[in-house]
Amino acid sequence: MAGIELRNLNKSYTVDGRILPVLRDLTLSLESGAITVLLGKSGCGKTTLLRLIAGLEMPDSGEIRFGSNSKAAFVFQEPRLMPWLTVRDNIQFGLRRRDISPEDTDRIIETVGLTGFERAYPHQLSGGMQQRTALARALICQPSFILMDEPFAALDHFTREDMQQALLEIREKTSASILFVTHSIDEALTLGDEIVLLSGGIAASHYPVSLPHPRSLYADDIIAIRRQIIAGLEHAL
Ligand SMILES: Nc1ncnc2c1ncn2[C@@H]1O[C@H](COP(=O)(O)OP(=O)(O)O)[C@@H](O)[C@H]1O
Ligand SMILES: [Mg+2]
Repeated sequence: MAGIELRNLNKSYTVDGRILPVLRDLTLSLESGAITVLLGKSGCGKTTLLRLIAGLEMPDSGEIRFGSNSKAAFVFQEPRLMPWLTVRDNIQFGLRRRDISPEDTDRIIETVGLTGFERAYPHQLSGGMQQRTALARALICQPSFILMDEPFAALDHFTREDMQQALLEIREKTSASILFVTHSIDEALTLGDEIVLLSGGIAASHYPVSLPHPRSLYADDIIAIRRQIIAGLEHAL
């Protein structure tokens, strides 16, 4: 069953009196429980699409249908933590205390690998740990969808690889579907069950990656898909 169905989505912005079309009749189904990676050039409308799914903006026309439950959580490129709150309080921020037990919070802190840092403040954490906190804040809402907008783009290479592994481990422990935006082809190949190339305001190409994890970026199958994606990106708008 599809987790999210996007049908004929249109979205344009008006900038300085001129209409800028971003999404043009975009139709896409996101499979439930999968990691779908949205890949595309800067400015092609990836963030716009996430914002529409999250309900932060409305499409001009078209339909967004959720399978069963539409609870979505957003993880941004920057962790967006409250500097005056501890890790634990950041994770629980926005929730009523009675909605979540201390044990549930502990479990999520453990899931993201932050046990022992519950009382640390954001400035005492590395970039990767701050992003783990942001991920925990998303998971604690028990979302059915996690929308991730280039969440690891600002991290150094090694931290980024750690976070990718952490995300794959977390995926095993939650039933949430993940829509992950990146412009790194290798990140897409590391994480995605399906890679969707967004170009010209539509889902221009689909690349299924049905390979087990951990994946080697040098495996023949991966090299073959990378080649197809690069060819697709060469023509992408
Ligand atoms: N609120 C806005 N007002 C006007 N133009 C916008 C707005 N948000 C995005 N855009 C424009 O829409 C296009 C797509 O933006 P975006 O979805 O952020 O792209 P991406 O995330 O793929 O880099 C860009 O040309 C951007 O300048
Ligand atoms: Mg963006």
